[in-house]
Amino acid sequence: MTDKATLTIGDKSYDLPILKGSTGPDVLDIRKVYAESDHFTFDPGFTSTASCESKITYIDGDAGVLLHRGYPIDQLAEKSSFLEVCYLLLNGELPKADEFAKFEHNITYHTMLHAQFDRFFEGFRRDAHPMAVMTGAVGALSAFYSDSINVDDPREREISAHRLIAKMPTIAARAYKYTVGQPFVSPRNDLSYSENFLRMCFAVPAEDWKPNPVLTRAMDRIFILHADHEQNASTSTVRLAGSSGAHPFACIAAGIACLWGPSHGGANQEALEMLETIGSVDNIKDYVQGVKDRKYKLMGFGHRVYKNFDPRAKVMQKTAHEVLGQLGHNNDPLLNVAQELEKVALNDPYFVDRKLYPNIDFYSGITLRAMGFPTNMFTVLFALARTVGWISQWKEMFEDPTRKIGRPRQLYTGATHRDYVPVESR
Ligand code: CMC
Repeated sequence: MTDKATLTIGDKSYDLPILKGSTGPDVLDIRKVYAESDHFTFDPGFTSTASCESKITYIDGDAGVLLHRGYPIDQLAEKSSFLEVCYLLLNGELPKADEFAKFEHNITYHTMLHAQFDRFFEGFRRDAHPMAVMTGAVGALSAFYSDSINVDDPREREISAHRLIAKMPTIAARAYKYTVGQPFVSPRNDLSYSENFLRMCFAVPAEDWKPNPVLTRAMDRIFILHADHEQNASTSTVRLAGSSGAHPFACIAAGIACLWGPSHGGANQEALEMLETIGSVDNIKDYVQGVKDRKYKLMGFGHRVYKNFDPRAKVMQKTAHEVLGQLGHNNDPLLNVAQELEKVALNDPYFVDRKLYPNIDFYSGITLRAMGFPTNMFTVLFALARTVGWISQWKEMFEDPTRKIGRPRQLYTGATHRDYVPVESR
């Protein structure tokens, strides 16, 4: 097999090296195309462009495969814990027992926030969307933890990574408590990561939160399913922001802002709202017709990379059944709507021809709602879990000796040179 491709423009030819990963499609190396041929490449939406080299996450969208450091997502969701997956993503290998104990201790002892940070929340309106609060609060972390923002110091990089993973549940729970007008609940070191988060969200001074192992396990699994997803929009945002040398708190705040969009992390809120709008299985036919008439999209369906079942959606669906079963919501009308809608779409040529399958967001909303989270918290939970993916990708980018500031070019179609005209002559 050839290790180079040839690009011909007019009467000149240029060699493009073909790079091979450990698996997945080969990649044409176009780095010298502009210097040698005076042409840019054009790929809005990056549908054919690999923006970096990475060893963290692999997706085969046609086969519906998702691997973190080589391990399949369903095995991790079944057998691992979110904190162990955090260690794996950050460090490349599953931890030995003593390595994990040290990591868990580090994360646990970084969960508290600077006392003054709590006053920061008071600057937001009570009806602010918790994602707005998250974007601001995470961006503000550097003002409170400025002792770990020297990106050139590996130890400071590690401390800020641990701080982000550890403090994100505390910030997310405060964003929730603030919007519902309840006092903040402090983290407790005797609880697991997910148990702690649920308690910080649902305990009130009048009544402590009672752990429910099924719900805690579901929370942990939901975090695992969202932990990383290769070079998606928010991760690419984090990498691009970091390519300038910006510190991780700023980069993760940028990632959160990007995640909020309805085509990305905001889809879980929209998917649940869509199921509520449909309301009953009787309305599915008309709703699906509206999708086919391009009035709106079927939220929680379709994916840029998966042209098969999103492997996370399968685990999510199982988790939804476990949670609803545990809470006695087996006959939740929205679950019935979701199941029927999935069936209708998977048998309709519009969706079949376009290879549109349920993605992770299709069943996550139903599950989170049953667990007690309001819809505006769904994307916050996604951000919490994705923080480890962002920070692992940021770390990999930063430690890559070939790192360069990200600077795409453009196909310019605007006005060419023209002389300024004074206002009275226009
Ligand atoms: N409902 C109806 N039609 C769709 C949908 C959908 N959800 N998704 C794609 N299509 C159609 C689209 O209109 C197009 O049709 P045509 O070729 O006739 O114009 C075709 O399928 C290809 O779609 P595309 O827009 O070129 O695909 P994309 O890769 O640019 O978009 C997507 C991917 C995820 C933005 C899109 O599928 C979508 O908007 N889905 C709904 C939102 C959603 O669930 N997002 C969560 C993604 S998973 C979690 C995450 O990564 O954040």
